[in-house]
This record gives sequence, C-alpha cells and structure tokens, in this order.
Amino acid sequence: MILSKRSKSTVGLDIGANSIKLVKLDRNKTGYEVSALGIRELPPEAIVADEVKDREAVIFNIQSLIDQIDPKIKDVVVSISGYGVITDKFTIDKKTGSEAEQAILFEAEQRSPFDVEDVTMNHHVIRIDEETRKQEILLVAARNEFLNSFIDLVVDTGLQPVVVDVDAFATLNAYAHNYDIDPERTTVLVNIGYDVTNVLYLYDGVYHSTRDIAAGTREIYNAIQKEFRLNAELATKAIKGEMEDSIDQDMLKATVVSATDEMISGMELAFSYFKTQAKVDKIDWMVLSGGGALTPYLPEYLQSKLGIPLEILNPLRNIDYDPEMFQYLEPEKIAPLLTVPVGLAMRKVR
Ligand SMILES: Nc1ncnc2c1ncn2[C@@H]1O[C@H](COP(=O)(O)OP(=O)(O)OP(=O)(O)O)[C@@H](O)[C@H]1O
Ligand SMILES: [Mg+2]
Repeated sequence: MILSKRSKSTVGLDIGANSIKLVKLDRNKTGYEVSALGIRELPPEAIVADEVKDREAVIFNIQSLIDQIDPKIKDVVVSISGYGVITDKFTIDKKTGSEAEQAILFEAEQRSPFDVEDVTMNHHVIRIDEETRKQEILLVAARNEFLNSFIDLVVDTGLQPVVVDVDAFATLNAYAHNYDIDPERTTVLVNIGYDVTNVLYLYDGVYHSTRDIAAGTREIYNAIQKEFRLNAELATKAIKGEMEDSIDQDMLKATVVSATDEMISGMELAFSYFKTQAKVDKIDWMVLSGGGALTPYLPEYLQSKLGIPLEILNPLRNIDYDPEMFQYLEPEKIAPLLTVPVGLAMRKVR
C-alpha cells in the first residue's frame, strides 16, 4: 500500500495593530520547518487598541500579503487579545466528557465576568491532581460581538479562520516548544506589541494566569516622531533602530525611557497582583517577545527598572528554516516579532 506523503502545514496569521504577520509551518520528522513568512505594516490608525478603525485598509493589506506569499493559502489560525478576551481559572472534581462540561458551565455561570449568553467559551485542563481527584481548569471566553466581527473581517479577506486563539497562549505555545520550562523558576512571558502587552505567568512549571495591559510601542513611536520632528516613514525607521547614524542616541534613549512610564506602571501593577495571587515574593525570570523586544534600549530599561533578569524569546530556536529563502526579511534579526504567528502555526488543526 502506498501512503500519500502529504506534508501537514498550518498557517498562523497575526493581525496586529502595527503589522500583519504570517508564518507557515510544515511538520517534518523532527518538528517544524518554516515554509512561508511575511510581514506587512499597516497604516498607524487602521487598528487602534484592538479596534478595527479602517476595515478596508486591513482587508487590503491582508490580501496583498497573501497574494505576495502564496495565493493558495486559505485556512489560517488567527488570534485575539485585549478587551475581547476573558480568562479565569478554577478547580473542579475530576470528571470527563459531558459531566465535566456541565461542571465547567456551572462554574462559569457563577463567575461575574462571564455572561454565558454573550460569550463563546473554551476550556483547557491545566493539571490533574490524582491524590485529591481534582482538576484545574482554564476557562477562556471571547465576547461574541468582538469575536464575530473579527471572524467576519477574516472571512471577508477570502480566508477561512480554522482556529481562533489568544495572543498570550500563542506566546506560551511558541515558548514551550523552544525552551525548557523550569518549575523552580517563576517566569513571566511579556509580549509587547503596538497597543497591547500580553503578560502570562508560569508558576511551578505550569500556566498560572494571564493579563493584557493596554500599553505598547505606539507611545514610543509617537514620542520619537514628536521629539525628533520626523515624518511617519522616518519615525518608523528610528523605532526599528535603523537610524543609528542620523539621530542622537542619547536623546533616543531618553525618549524611549520617558514614553515607557505607562507600560512600566501597568507591568508593576500586574506583577504585584500576580505575586499576591500566587503567594510568591518575586518573579525570577522575564521572557520578552513582540516588537518591544526589538525596540532600541527598551529591553535593558525594563530589566533595570523591574529588577528581573530578562531573556529575549527566539520562537525559531528549535524550528528549521532556510535563511536563503527569506533573505530580505532576515528572520534571525526579527525573530521575537514572529512569536505569536509561530505559536499560532503550531496549533493542531482538524
Ligand atoms: N523590522 C523591525 N525591526 C525592529 N523592530 C521592529 C520591526 N518591525 C516592528 N518593530 C517594532 O515592533 C513594534 C510593533 O510590535 P508588534 O509587531 O509586536 O505589534 P503588533 O502585533 O502589530 O501590535 P498589537 O499586538 O498591539 O496589536 C513597532 O512599533 C516597532 O517598534
Ligand atoms: Mg501583536
């Protein structure tokens, strides 16, 4: 019998406020290989803080990106974050099947942030304690209004969203595939985007909780544009660290630092809440991803201000790719930016 050797591949499409990123991963014998990659920047006001302001521009840019990479792409794994997503965690007795479903629904109904009529829910078992016969459940809910308009947008580009994930969980997926999770080390994954910073805690070697902070690199972009009196094109270059020779670096550093206040205080607040919840006195390790990891002076500043050792996430660490294929994109230089789409493309589909 001849078995067809169809390569299984999945496309992760990350629709961010600053750019749309696409990663296609093929499953091979040892893991994954990148078979397509693309990024397309959006006009700055097309998506603002999770809200699609210029639908036409977003659709046009997604279609252009697909046309450029591979017009045959149809199925995509996409993600949402921020206001539209609610997560919670609780413990129920160990059950399976419809009994478990019932128990989870019952719990969800007791919880104020969930109005079960208005949300679409999904759950995941974090861990099972065989001794106490209890299981810890992660409940993820998306507000229907938000979810449906997002799905409509993707469908209107001609694509088929096969899974809708959450940015923070895609980040965890990308991290877990590429690094060993050390149970001794309380770790925070921080994915800094343009408008949203996704924070996810790992405690005791497993997921603890997540939170989205309404701050990102847009503040830094605006500050650079203003301080240096640059047009949009040059400000975009400057924030990418592409104007090292033509702008004063001390002034750039000072601008980045002063535009980061809100982000820092959002993180400090979130971290102290987590420490109370998890009853820990410190976070041992911080793993930084998203565009914020590439912003000049930002990682060093976060590390010193928050006092937590910091590592930059490379989502391609354990993934094969042929650098020749993506020469103009230089994946090794922009890797942290690809964290969410890589995590999405690792989702099992069907
Ligand atoms: N090629 C690049 N080199 C260096 N930095 C870059 C590059 N492209 C983008 N950035 C940085 O990444 C930032 C945007 O981050 P990111 O792409 O993670 O946001 P996003 O996913 O579009 O937004 P959000 O997640 O908030 O919706 C930009 O403001 C810029 O600072
Ligand atoms: Mg993002």
